[in-house]
Amino acid sequence: MSTSSHLYPMSSGDDQHSYIHNSSYQKVAISGAEEKTRRCILEKLDLQLSSDFSTFRIADFGCSTGPNTFHVVQSIIDTVKSRHFKENNEHSLVPLEFQVFFNDHTTNDFNTLFKTQPPSSEREYFSVGVPGSFYGRVLPRNSIHIGHTSYTTHWLSKAPEHVCDKKSIAWNKNYIQCNNLLEEVTKAYKVQFIEDMDAFLDARGEELVPGGLMTIIGECLPDGVSLYETWQGFVMDTIGDCLMDMAKSGITSEEKIDVFSLPVYFPQFSELKGEIERNGSFTIELMETTSHPLEGMALTNEFITSTFRAFLTTIIEKHFGDGVVDELFDRLAKKLYKHPIDFEMRKKLVVYYIVLKRK
Ligand SMILES: C[S@@+](CC[C@H](N)C(=O)[O-])C[C@H]1O[C@@H](n2cnc3c(N)ncnc32)[C@H](O)[C@@H]1O
Repeated sequence: MSTSSHLYPMSSGDDQHSYIHNSSYQKVAISGAEEKTRRCILEKLDLQLSSDFSTFRIADFGCSTGPNTFHVVQSIIDTVKSRHFKENNEHSLVPLEFQVFFNDHTTNDFNTLFKTQPPSSEREYFSVGVPGSFYGRVLPRNSIHIGHTSYTTHWLSKAPEHVCDKKSIAWNKNYIQCNNLLEEVTKAYKVQFIEDMDAFLDARGEELVPGGLMTIIGECLPDGVSLYETWQGFVMDTIGDCLMDMAKSGITSEEKIDVFSLPVYFPQFSELKGEIERNGSFTIELMETTSHPLEGMALTNEFITSTFRAFLTTIIEKHFGDGVVDELFDRLAKKLYKHPIDFEMRKKLVVYYIVLKRK
């Protein structure tokens, strides 16, 4: 079975292992980029927010279950309101109305998302759930004024088929991710990434109104750095080692590991920029990188294990079956305890923040 991302949302519900309680790493990065993206929106939003402007529509693509999406949406609303206030005479101001479209896979836990959104007395927007893959159209043409996506596009639509094919030269032997150690594997992932990013930008290009903005936040490799050199790549390779140990103990099988490769790809910065330019649906208004705000700190093994668990549980359970996840992350915690990550020595992924304007 090759590993497609269509069915693998983050951990649902609100228990200790859920995405809701294990997404602070992403939240901190999003907050770190907030001021710059806010200023860029204020400056670059090319829409006439006149007093008869009716409904301002915002979409978050790959919103998961919260709470990060609510924070992002509120920040965009506050920014747009302040632009609206500036552009209109205070006395003739008719308040803007906001509609927010929350998109994610059909299998995302939308119940938890809507149960945990701010109460209606505090919420300044009308909410809509939009199930479906953001690698295709999920909203009507020319309907969105500001789109946002964070920590999403490293999930490919599927793992490239050849990397799960034992007969192919691009077979990802011994690894469960594209860590850039095998050239043919990296090439196959790169092709899939380009295809997916193109599909993402084409779809958003149709859904956003001309002059509308799209903010994108995520992590990429600095140019010249390979994933296996980073601490995140090391953790993923260690998870692969734990699976191999579990196969040796008969808890899973080597055959299953051989055909498992995550549909996840971290591009280098210039690769990502080149792809946005090549696609051509948007102009780049802002595209910068910064180190992750927690980068200087030695993250605890418990924090790392819980963060990766919330991100990977669904796909691991789907491929390896129920009852593997507890054992796997228990083993990961023990391995990290035995071989602690040297954060100083390891290279790092960087956080990128991008503001695009629809041509
Ligand atoms: C790490 S979470 C990020 C959630 C949220 N944006 C944040 O910043 O906390 C990645 C989300 O992207 C969603 N996702 C991945 N691929 C997707 C696709 N093709 N279409 C829609 N959602 C997708 C996943 O289901 C998951 O909820």
